[in-house]
Amino acid sequence: MKFFVDTAEIDEIRELHELGMVDGVTTNPSLIAKSGRDILEVTKEICALVDGPVSAEVVATAADAMISEGRKLAQIASNIAVKVPLTWDGLKACKVLTGEGKMVNVTLCFSANQAILAAKAGATFVSPFIGRLDDINLDGLDLIADIREIYDNYDFDTEILAASIRSANHMSDCAKIGADVATAPAKVIKAMASHVLTDKGLTAFLADAEKAGIKIL
Ligand code: E4P
Repeated sequence: MKFFVDTAEIDEIRELHELGMVDGVTTNPSLIAKSGRDILEVTKEICALVDGPVSAEVVATAADAMISEGRKLAQIASNIAVKVPLTWDGLKACKVLTGEGKMVNVTLCFSANQAILAAKAGATFVSPFIGRLDDINLDGLDLIADIREIYDNYDFDTEILAASIRSANHMSDCAKIGADVATAPAKVIKAMASHVLTDKGLTAFLADAEKAGIKIL
């Protein structure tokens, strides 16, 4: 499973990238707003840092305007994936932009039916939002599993990009289901390293090392 980091913060991306943990980046208008940066400038910086796909989202809602915005975003760098919402207009924009050879991430996917349409429109990625479904007492992971089954039934090429990930367990659950990509905030990716027994074991080992006077350097 590829790891994308869901942020527009350059420092967070850099830290994970140095560890080889970043296969791509996703942003959205809320993350760009939170960064306080200009969308074109910060996206250009991210694209220069990371080799993999960098999703940059349109803010228009009509297909023609989304296509124009998508073309402008795609000019930033060759690794831009234009992010469009999963609306009828978004699907039209997806079809045109992928037809021009651009990567397109169809976002805000909340049902298997929507995911089928994204694949039919030639999406490079579809982004089902796990956490936001869990927030309304539905099961976001069930949606990932349903899309995996449907895409495998028909060998659709669209990659399942599990999004709105809120916990480390979501990451391993997505990997078990077979999501192609999971995008998560840096703090969730870092939380995957934590285990209470690791902390407890390390404390005991260090206490024994001190008692025995073990020195390596
Ligand atoms: C994905 O592309 C979205 O930017 C993101 O995962 C949304 O996550 P949220 O529901 O935590 O805002």
